Amino acid sequence: MSGSARALQPPRGMKDYLPEELAKRRRIEETIRQLFRLYAYREVETPTVEHLELVAAKVGEETRRAMYAFKDLGGRDVALRPEGTAPIARLVASKLRTAPKPLRLGYVWDFYRYDEPQFGRFRRFYQGGFELFGVSGLEGDLETLIVALDLMTRLGFKTFNVKASNVVVLRSLLAKAGVSEDGQNAVLSYADKRRYVEALEHIRSLGVPNRTVEAVSKLFELRGPDYESILQEARGLCEGCPDAIAALELLQHLLDSAKVLFPSTQLIVDLGFARGLEYYTGVIFEVFVPPLEIALIGGGRYDRLVELFGGEPTAAVGCAPGIDRLLLAMEEKGLSTPAEAASLAYLIPLKGISEDEAARVAYSLRSLDLAVEADVSRRGLKRGLAYANQRHLPFAVILGKEEMARGHAVLRNMAEATQTEASLEDLAIKLKRSQEAKATGRLEPHGGSS
Ligand code: HAM
Repeated sequence: MSGSARALQPPRGMKDYLPEELAKRRRIEETIRQLFRLYAYREVETPTVEHLELVAAKVGEETRRAMYAFKDLGGRDVALRPEGTAPIARLVASKLRTAPKPLRLGYVWDFYRYDEPQFGRFRRFYQGGFELFGVSGLEGDLETLIVALDLMTRLGFKTFNVKASNVVVLRSLLAKAGVSEDGQNAVLSYADKRRYVEALEHIRSLGVPNRTVEAVSKLFELRGPDYESILQEARGLCEGCPDAIAALELLQHLLDSAKVLFPSTQLIVDLGFARGLEYYTGVIFEVFVPPLEIALIGGGRYDRLVELFGGEPTAAVGCAPGIDRLLLAMEEKGLSTPAEAASLAYLIPLKGISEDEAARVAYSLRSLDLAVEADVSRRGLKRGLAYANQRHLPFAVILGKEEMARGHAVLRNMAEATQTEASLEDLAIKLKRSQEAKATGRLEPHGGSS
């Protein structure tokens, strides 16, 4: 590609959203915001650019390497945010330090990761976020999981899977064997990539007793939808490590509760599953729609992040739906509906109607909140109606010289191909009624336009 042709494309791994795709993305965003209202999350916004130090802490090796990091013109080390939990924890450690808890914060932002682009993996992508602070008990994990599954249901997915684990199981086994937090992070990072052989080699190299290496090795293999028996087996492997046993019990309790509300969701325990981000301190989970193998939503508990940023010790749990991936999954399942026609009516000024007369009528209709697209290129009647048809606009308002002299215009119902003359006031009332009927889902009475 020549230099100038390349400049016409967005940077690799980033997308332009044209109207139809953007409308679909907005539908997902609106559903996320509806859940903010229903679950009492309040929306916040932080800058796209953050101090490198903040976003690099605890994101894990892989994300750290994929950061759009640079020096600004003042020589400060900054980065485009790769995820939203750290910026939100920064708020809770600073401006929201004294905000009453529980505190629920939501966001819909774009994120940047210099990953190798592939199906469902972009360098710029959108996430929604639900972050809950000040709840250390199961209620917090449960509300977070429910909000994620509620979103899937509202978007129209009939079946989906949850994959869950609790990082305390592996961490406490390793800690008991004397492995430092850095050592644990390395093991979890291998596990995140399913590189279990290297994970076990690493554990051995740290001088961990054989018994623990074997237990970890067996835990790596424990996964499946029959979570009760899997957790039972895991409890056997974790004997003598009460923290790990408690973590397994919490996981069981969480899944039992989720099962009651979402009986058709497959709940898979996967004890070899670790998420790439290092800040997790408890239950972690991801949501999938088979046969797609990409995670659509990711989340978990991170009780130490606010403190790490200098705030009070604050329990925290949250999740982030990946909007671009949800969109891909909806397309795959035929759930992504085409965008609705934006306008209600097409305004066609005929010969003899001046620009300002046409603009005045359009303005008066819009001041009543009626969405009107005006013909501003003098297409004339025939081509104007053809255009309105092609755009699926429900009505045309035709401004003719004679009718306008009486303060009237012609209202045409495009689907029925019927038309009637009415005063501009009556015409506005009819359009308004039709718009309201559409918004409430009521059917227009026959001949509603006349
Ligand atoms: P994450 O798993 O890295 O978690 O990202 C959450 C979701 O964002 C993923 O499940 C996926 O749908 C989407 N996503 C991630 N990377 C990409 C990419 N390169 N292209 C397209 N979509 C992507 C987090 O970011 C955590 N902050 C989630 C969280 C919130 N944990 C606690 N609270």
